[in-house]
Amino acid sequence: MANNFKKKMTLDDFMSNESPGLMKIFDFASNLPISLYVDTTAVKIPESCYSSSLLSKTHFLSETYLLNRKRNSLDLGLQYGVMGYSSFNARASIVQKKLSEAEDVEKKNVVISLPQYKNLKNPLGAIIRARRSIREMSDKSISLEELSTILFYGDGVTGEMQLISEEKDFFPSNSLGDDYNATLRSAPSGGGLFPIDLYLVIRNVQGLRDGIYIYMPLNHSLKVVRYLDEQATEELKTVVEWGYNIESSKINVIVFYVYNLYNNSRKYLDMALDFAMIESGQISENIHLVSTALTIASCDIGGFDKFKCEQFLGVDGLTKNIINVTILGN
Ligand SMILES: Cc1cc2nc3c(=O)[nH]c(=O)nc-3n(C[C@H](O)[C@H](O)[C@H](O)COP(=O)(O)O)c2cc1C
Repeated sequence: MANNFKKKMTLDDFMSNESPGLMKIFDFASNLPISLYVDTTAVKIPESCYSSSLLSKTHFLSETYLLNRKRNSLDLGLQYGVMGYSSFNARASIVQKKLSEAEDVEKKNVVISLPQYKNLKNPLGAIIRARRSIREMSDKSISLEELSTILFYGDGVTGEMQLISEEKDFFPSNSLGDDYNATLRSAPSGGGLFPIDLYLVIRNVQGLRDGIYIYMPLNHSLKVVRYLDEQATEELKTVVEWGYNIESSKINVIVFYVYNLYNNSRKYLDMALDFAMIESGQISENIHLVSTALTIASCDIGGFDKFKCEQFLGVDGLTKNIINVTILGN
């Protein structure tokens, strides 16, 4: 930044006009309610006592996590992880997903096919520039075609990849099917394992009963988890700290990013969670950009109660965990 706005001033001027603001900036930028060295000092500031009350050590969980993250260049989970995870396992894991979706599709009462998505032709640069987190929503419905478009571009199947099949001869194709192609999606995924499911709480979307659904990308359809009654609609108001600027009753879709821990952790071990966080961000950015193109409001929400939301969705919080939330509305 150019520094031609600097000018000489007296110490009194500095102390009365500049110093208080600068101290606030310093205080904010240093951003540490506790010192990194608090374990080794005798005098503890009140915040450190408070922060440590829930933990055996005074570290934030984020600090502990970062201190232990990726200790060396081999630390993708070698050798029990990546090396032990052969193409057979990858194929088996992919086939498993295909079979479970196929089974749900057979039970026609629980699966709703989504209509064809809109072919978006908006210029990418203009859409990226226009994207904003928008929290004001009008309570108008959104169409099923709009929802279909958001889900397809957000995390839909956009391609296929032939898997190299060294073990073709002993692959149990009678039980698992002989389709060796892996599906690829609009958002990337470590190892093509796609560990994130999109759970949708839907309210006021044309052609859908208000309820909880799971997006099934391979069949571009929705699986019904349960419909929302009055009691569930009331409960929904309490599972997220919506804040004064969001009227929860006007939201049309809440997207919960549910991470299936064991879908990628058998391969990536300690890095698996990192990948899930990255991937949920990639899906959510897709969703924001498509929503912008469709003039639908979207905003990520950090203020959700993980445990209450998981209970609401029927997600166990152990093998499946909510790691991000996006709201959509008209
Ligand atoms: C992980 C994450 C959590 C967020 N949580 C909230 C939230 O709880 N409430 C809210 O109003 N906005 C939330 N936001 C939106 C940010 O406030 C917003 O992205 C930021 O102010 C930048 O503005 P922009 O997205 O319009 O560019 C969140 C954004 C992210 C990425």
